[in-house]
Amino acid sequence: MSDKKATLSIDGLAEAVELPIYSGTLGPDVVDVGGLTARGMFTYDPGFVSTAACESQITFIDGNKGVLLHRGYPIEQLADESDYLETCYLLLYGELPNKAQKEKFVSTVHRHTMVHEQIRTFFNGFRRDAHPMAIMCGVVGALSAFYHDSLDISDEQHRQVAAFRLIAKMPTLAAMSYKFSTGQPFMYPDNSLNYAENFLHMMFGNPCEPSNISPVLSRAMDRIFLLHADHEQNASTSTVRLAGSSGANPFACIAAGIAALWGPSHGGANEAVLEMLEEIGDVSRIDEFVARAKDKDDPFRLMGFGHRVYKNFDPRAKVMKESADEVLAELGLENDPLLAIAKRLEEIALHDDYFIEKKLYPNVDFYSGIILKAIGIPTSMFTVIFAVGRTVGWIAHWNEMISGSYRIGRPRQLYTGHVMRDYVPLQERK
Ligand code: CMC
Repeated sequence: MSDKKATLSIDGLAEAVELPIYSGTLGPDVVDVGGLTARGMFTYDPGFVSTAACESQITFIDGNKGVLLHRGYPIEQLADESDYLETCYLLLYGELPNKAQKEKFVSTVHRHTMVHEQIRTFFNGFRRDAHPMAIMCGVVGALSAFYHDSLDISDEQHRQVAAFRLIAKMPTLAAMSYKFSTGQPFMYPDNSLNYAENFLHMMFGNPCEPSNISPVLSRAMDRIFLLHADHEQNASTSTVRLAGSSGANPFACIAAGIAALWGPSHGGANEAVLEMLEEIGDVSRIDEFVARAKDKDDPFRLMGFGHRVYKNFDPRAKVMKESADEVLAELGLENDPLLAIAKRLEEIALHDDYFIEKKLYPNVDFYSGIILKAIGIPTSMFTVIFAVGRTVGWIAHWNEMISGSYRIGRPRQLYTGHVMRDYVPLQERK
């Protein structure tokens, strides 16, 4: 915090309004506009383009420099030297674990990977062709009906258990939502495997044969989870915070986050990238689609390009691109036609004036879609995988809010509807 102040002079008000300015450890200062209501005025900022809704110590992004830090550690270092569960520990507790803390954390997650047997019956209520994100919204919210012993949000112990349950059960539920669509039996988790291996085992294994998981693919999967683990106050995390601010239980809040993530402007983009590549269909048609993306009268956008915050490059995309190259080489897919379209599209967009001027770079979803497709994950599961990775970020933010002081989130509005008018009886209406 600082002693700096902003002064706002308002037409019609004799006295200027003094607003306190706060400084964080990194990033721009913020002006506290909370006092404006006393002057009968609100601020207006659709899309929260320049509004900080909370104070947080978890993740920092500098979009102009392409910096992403979790608890101060650069994402590139975490991606190279850490793993997903260690990053979960870091996000939740603020420090990297020592050896004993890491072992305990990993073994506790492993102990929570199974879901209640009755949850299996929930799946039968869905059509076989249900989108797995629709299933996830339902079954994750339904966890609140199974774990009454971890719903007291004022109890730190309850919050801890809920966190472990969510992180551990998300891959199990995600894989079940896929198995249900194929008609294959659900696979129980195998706790001798690491987090990413276990997910691939539950996705692609079957009870008749031992699973054979490539270390290159499980490493890529782990990186995908790690690179999606948190991204400060994005739409889904803000949704989780807003839902949590009413005192809702953590399972309900995470279900709300999953719903917000589903949209194509957010987590749904990785699925939309693949659909777009399929629609383009051939390298010869790329120019046509690039022209459409640039046409103001055409709503089409190049999926996987652009970001609200990153205006230089997306540091997650850089790491993800490395993994994409590794995976494609491992699988001998360097000549896949869809991947050829992706590579050409990336090349064109990086050199095209429109994309350069508007600072539209490939984002994390552009490359994650390519890796997931190469691994053999069906397109409809892409956003589910984003949700699995992001669960820890949602919980870390929810927990940070609940364990500090907070008020129910309640945005205001600029009302432009009718002024007050009298009710018209039905027989008098035209
Ligand atoms: N293709 C073509 N033009 C674009 C694109 C795109 N992908 N993205 C933005 N623009 C243009 C847009 O038309 C606008 O032009 P103008 O100034 O002439 O009106 C300008 O760039 C700014 O766009 P905006 O919509 O005001 O920017 P935003 O910050 O509100 O939106 C975004 C950010 C990510 C929603 C947007 O870039 C987009 O729709 N990208 C495609 C979807 C996507 O890949 N989303 C994943 C984001 S990364 C994962 C995550 O965090 O969830």
